Amino acid sequence: MAMGRGRRLLRRLLPPCVCVLIPIVLWASSSGRGANGVGTYDQALSSAVGGVVDPFSRAPAVTGGSGQGQRDVVDGKPLVAVYFTGQARSLNRTKCSIDRNLFQPLIARGFQPVVFALGEMDANAGLYQEVLGEKALPAGVTLGGLEVISRPQVAFPRNEPVAGEVSIPHSCYEALRKKPMRWYHSGGGSEKDSKNTLYGAEVLSQLYYRAKVDVMRVEWEKDQGKKFEWVVNARPDNIYVNALPDLTSLPADGTVYVPSWGHGFDPKSSSKVKRRAGLNDRFAFGGADAMSSYHDLYNRLCSETNTIADARMPPKMNFEQMMWWYLAREDVARTVSRVRSIPGEFWFLRLRHGPTSTWPLEHPGHLPPLVKDWPEDKRWEVWSAAARQTWSCDGGRAAEQGECWLRLSAESRAGSTWWRWAVSKFWKSAANRASPGGALDNLFRRRCGLLEA
Ligand SMILES: *[C@@H]1O[C@H](CO)[C@@H](O)[C@H](O)[C@H]1NC(C)=O
Repeated sequence: MAMGRGRRLLRRLLPPCVCVLIPIVLWASSSGRGANGVGTYDQALSSAVGGVVDPFSRAPAVTGGSGQGQRDVVDGKPLVAVYFTGQARSLNRTKCSIDRNLFQPLIARGFQPVVFALGEMDANAGLYQEVLGEKALPAGVTLGGLEVISRPQVAFPRNEPVAGEVSIPHSCYEALRKKPMRWYHSGGGSEKDSKNTLYGAEVLSQLYYRAKVDVMRVEWEKDQGKKFEWVVNARPDNIYVNALPDLTSLPADGTVYVPSWGHGFDPKSSSKVKRRAGLNDRFAFGGADAMSSYHDLYNRLCSETNTIADARMPPKMNFEQMMWWYLAREDVARTVSRVRSIPGEFWFLRLRHGPTSTWPLEHPGHLPPLVKDWPEDKRWEVWSAAARQTWSCDGGRAAEQGECWLRLSAESRAGSTWWRWAVSKFWKSAANRASPGGALDNLFRRRCGLLEA
């Protein structure tokens, strides 16, 4: 009797339910998940530049690898310079991934990595010596040079320069301020004390470090009478998830290799300034001369007599778009004949300075996603791998507690797949509740001993 009534009720309710569910299901499934984040940006880059300026196709086809030893060798090993610049940030937690995924792959292929670091003097500057100092470097890696300096300051006409401090020409700062640049995704304004204007000075200081660290390498070459084959631009706060590709199989000369993702523009945006092509500048490697040009942007922008920040420089560029615009210039193309994506998968996430509870930035719960076009599984895969790299550096029970956290979160997600999928389009925070920063996250971390009870 009760069964019959239940079935009748179900029959009455089911059709409206289905009518409501079908559009939701169709809507949710049209969410444009790419099969894989890799490669998406290469396609986007090609279509964004529309064949007008395309550093990816500027040079003749690649013919084989460079082989080793085109430049000089030390004990039979070709030299690779590895640069670190700016604030040390989380260097004591990224160092294990730097060793595992940059230094060790180079050593295994018979290269001699030589570190050059130009750090910014701040509260964490001691980490440079602690991690990259002569005695701290892993076996097989040598130190070419390590300096820590105060942040270069813009030379405002009314200020006296401070002794020992690098001055950024005021004209250079003004050129960017007037353009204006668009350092922030959300805008950032262009008034005198807007975020963009203030950050312009910081961008110039970062570009200064890049130019100066390259000079350190060139001076080392003169001193030692030897030349580098490759240069790698690493960052102190990148957690490397994948091993550096085998450089013996890649051509070095004239080529700069950049990540295939995170290029800071959207070819589908309705805003013209956001459609302009860009390049992920957070990591790069390439032939030594091409990488010298890559690092020379500060000198080209801030030359007092012959700056490239002139009327022809497009306005409202972000950092990535500025890098693209710079590398695509005719005069730069003389040394950077080709910009290519790093072959295979090469992911790295940023890690902010903070206590060991600080996790890699591009986490699966971040709204909006910091790496576009990543399907959810990919976000978890890359983020878990990055988190494991940091925990391996933290020691103690960090790895065990981290695994516990990943497991609880994975169990919760596996138990709510359908529900999360149905709400993912219109209630993202609920769909993300088992992700880092989500509503259930503190509970998981407390259970795993990652938070005070
Ligand atoms: C990393 O260094 C900072 C100081 O800059 C320190 O507070 C922190 O505890 C260190 N973390 C690890 C895991 O060693």
